[in-house]
Amino acid sequence: MEIINTVEGLKQALNSARKEGKSIGFVPTMGALHQGHMDLVSRAVAACDVVVVSVFVNPTQFNNLSDLEKYPRTPEADSELLKKFGCDIAFFPSEAEVYPKKLVSPRVDLGGLDTVMEGKFRPGHFKGVVQVVSRLFELVEPQKAFFGLKDFQQVAVIKKMVEQLKLPIEIVPCETFRTDKGLAMSSRNKRLTEDQKEEALIIYKTLIHAKTDSGNFSPEETAIRAKEFFMQGTLQLEYLNIVDPLTLQDLTDHWVPGATMCIACFCGEVRLIDNMILN
Ligand code: PAJ
Repeated sequence: MEIINTVEGLKQALNSARKEGKSIGFVPTMGALHQGHMDLVSRAVAACDVVVVSVFVNPTQFNNLSDLEKYPRTPEADSELLKKFGCDIAFFPSEAEVYPKKLVSPRVDLGGLDTVMEGKFRPGHFKGVVQVVSRLFELVEPQKAFFGLKDFQQVAVIKKMVEQLKLPIEIVPCETFRTDKGLAMSSRNKRLTEDQKEEALIIYKTLIHAKTDSGNFSPEETAIRAKEFFMQGTLQLEYLNIVDPLTLQDLTDHWVPGATMCIACFCGEVRLIDNMILN
């Protein structure tokens, strides 16, 4: 595995791969890698000749300075894991490499996908995600890029971006990877105590509860009942929505295929998100 820090180095490595007609798979990450990330890497390794994984904690997608500062950074462990899982190129760029002074970021109309849920509670978040992912796509030019459904809204936003910018890149969504007990893997889990990890299981339990309810109740009623269920735990709920998977708008009376419940909450100071298809 090559570890590359510069755009120039990345271009050189990829040009020779491209000349040999190799397909390129890409997994963008912010590091502090866990099994959820490695699942994406394994999918990419199985599907593509050359796999690039970027590790870059993107400051423009954080709307909270303390969240950015406290974001876990484990570059040595990340490199080890990437090597073990068959990554070919680990790209660890500096901020100056990703955002050179003259860079003009594309304007993308996300058609309202960016103003609900995460977009509402983390203003500017998706603008930052689009900025960094479009830049990384420009540098890597992959045929396929792998994203986790743990960040359900992010997948919808990235698909829309690719469509708007007419990029020849296939977005491959990958299932959420959970602990045995159901907690969705997240880099932020590193900041939870063992007790908090137990308390955070209320998120998964609420999703399962809602999935059962969805057979008997409307989306609106299911959401109300899910909120009541969630409140039995100790976490602070930020939002709990049942949405249409294409528009991300709330469902009220009728179920649609792929209707998804999305939850964001705080476990102590740590913000967690999760989701599940109900229908
Ligand atoms: P990060 O949170 O590091 O996640 C990188 C990728 O791993 C994302 O596609 C995310 O959805 C996926 N992922 C995280 N936890 C997962 C889990 N438990 N199961 C499956 N996939 C999981 O998402 C970002 O970084 C950034 O926004 C990024 C796209 C890199 C842009 O900066």
